[in-house]
Formats: sequence, C-alpha cells, structure tokens
Amino acid sequence: MEKVAPERVPIAGNAPPQRYARGWHCLGLSAPFKDGRPHSLLIFGTKLVVFQQADGSMAVLDGYCPHMGADLGTGTIIEGTVACPFHGWQWNGRGECAHIPYSPRIPRKAKTRSWPVMEQNEQLFVYHDPEERQPPPEVAIPRIDAVMNDECTPWEWQTMHIPANCRELVDNVADAMHFKLVHGLEATRFVNIFERHMATQKGTFQALSADDGRGNGDGTAAFSFESSATYYGPAYMIVSQTVDHLGKPVQLYLINAHYPVTPNSFALHVGITTRRIEGVSDDEGIALGRAVAKAAVETFLQDVSIWETKARIDAPVLTEFCGPLYQLRRWYEQFYVDVADVAPAMTERFEHEVDLRTPNQMLKATAQS
Ligand code: FES
Ligand SMILES: [Fe+2]
Repeated sequence: MEKVAPERVPIAGNAPPQRYARGWHCLGLSAPFKDGRPHSLLIFGTKLVVFQQADGSMAVLDGYCPHMGADLGTGTIIEGTVACPFHGWQWNGRGECAHIPYSPRIPRKAKTRSWPVMEQNEQLFVYHDPEERQPPPEVAIPRIDAVMNDECTPWEWQTMHIPANCRELVDNVADAMHFKLVHGLEATRFVNIFERHMATQKGTFQALSADDGRGNGDGTAAFSFESSATYYGPAYMIVSQTVDHLGKPVQLYLINAHYPVTPNSFALHVGITTRRIEGVSDDEGIALGRAVAKAAVETFLQDVSIWETKARIDAPVLTEFCGPLYQLRRWYEQFYVDVADVAPAMTERFEHEVDLRTPNQMLKATAQS
C-alpha cells in the first residue's frame, strides 16, 4: 500500500542558531559608559569591555585580557587605555598593548580584538560580524534629528534581560494576529515593507482596554494611534508614533533594541522620548514619555510571558491573515549568513498588507458571544 505522509506537523521545537547576527547592536545610552571606568558586557556569547578613550571617543575590546585572561571590565582606565587588574597591562582602543608596567618589551602577539563602535541618538553601538569585516556605511544607525537637535525630552530608558532567542522579538514585526489577544489592541491597518537591511511595520491600532496609562482606565474608552516602526539591521528599531495628549498631538520616538547574550537570551532596551511642543512643558512631556514607556514595557512583558514557555518554530503553519512571517524571516536570515551568501531574495523589496476585515469581524463576533 502506498504510504501517505501525515499532514500533521510534529511540534518538537527547533534549536536556535549558535551564530549571532551581523550588524549594529545598541548597548544602551552612551552617558553611563562615560563614567571614567571600564564596563564589562556579556554579549554574543562572550565578554566585552567598553571604555572611554582620552579623546572622549568610545572603544570596545574583547573582555578577557590576552595576557592571562583577567576581566578587563574590572580594571581601571589610565590615560585613555584600559589597565588590567591582574598585572597592569594597558590596552588601547585599537586593541594594542600600549604599556606593560614591568617590561620595556611588548610581545608581538600582545593584541586583542577591537570592535567597531558608533554613537548615535545619545546611544552607543557595537558592530558584530563573525567574519570581522568593517561595517559598511549604508547600514549605519540613522540619526533622529529631533533628538540630536535637542528638540526632545531626555530618554526614558530601561533594559531587561529576556530568556528567549531574539528571533521571537523580531517575529513581532510581521505577527498581525497576536495584538488583540496578547495586547488588547486591534489593528485596523497592518503593512510590512522589507528592503535591504530594513524591515518596517506600519499600522493603525485601537486600544480595546484603556489600562495602558494613556486612556481613562475604565476599560471602555478606545483610542487609536498610528505607528511606524523600522528595524535598521537585525537589532535596532525606531518606532515613531503620534499620540493625542489633552487634544494636542505629541510626536514620540520609541527605541526597541536588543543584543543577544546567549543563543537563548537577550538584553532588551526600551527607550522613549517625546518631541517638545509648544504648550506642553518639559515636565509634562517627560511624564507622558514615562507613561508611554511604562505601557511599552508592559506590552513587551506580555510578549515575554508567551516566549518564556513557547517552542521555537522554524516552519509555522499560517493563514493568509497571520502576517508575512516567512518573508520576514527570509529578510532576517541575511544577518546570519556570510556576506557572500546574502541572496537577493533576502534584501529585495517586499511589501504586504494584511486584509484585516475578515479577522476583525470574526474576532468581534467572538468577543460579543
Ligand atoms: S591577565 Fe591581564 S595583565 Fe595579566
Ligand atoms: Fe507583541
């Protein structure tokens, strides 16, 4: 008898890649790294050290001293170099040994890896590439003019440790159908555009419950907002939203950025700033930013509670309403292969809008019954 393959897909859960994405990764706001001390950082399955050089610029090196492996992040900064706490060897931002306190001769092999660094939007970034190429200029993190021109309130910034592979977070870009159940938001428009190193989600959302700090809290008053969110590379998203505050439109920027710590965990940054507008004081702007930041963090935590117990699924079963998850992951794959293996299909423009009429009607009917 002819064997028929079962139609059921076995759900075993797939292992995450051991490789980390190529691209710029945000380490957080720059200012806390400029306190005159070196900082160690668990990232990309290893340890790095971050410090400020004599000219004010930032440097990132491998975190373990090539001499005998001490943690450079527990050392000190001497004349813009990081001095190891164990035997005092000093390392400059280029990864060269600049000084050994007890030897005039510096061994030829006394070198360590120096990682490309950039600062933008008051934040610090490190470039990861398993092939150790220099970052191409076209993938540089874009500047938010309003932030750099001092037109915005100070960043409200939080960093959380999330016990999941970071693809779960990136999947959110295309996952049109989780908003209602997980976040109490109804999408009325949901568009994705993937092109080169960028992936965009544009949407119009309605809050169904007003308990997110922006509504009146009685669970009935719906408000809607437009959101445009773009990933620049694998790990840095700028979300631009206009929210209504006491009848005034307030422009806010939300940073959703992450860096992987291990294949199964990542650090998630949520940063918010609002553009100063006439008639809204700085304090009001900051308070509004805080309320939105609190809501954004709560939104992420709703996702986290799903990620914590879910399996990683490389081949999800989808309807036409679920969102272009396969295309998103094809885009995301460009950051996990060697530069020579980036296929045109990973970077060419793809645009898709989910037709939300049927799902919203059905979800409404379910909610009413
Ligand atoms: S281990 Fe760093 S100087 Fe010896
Ligand atoms: Fe979500």
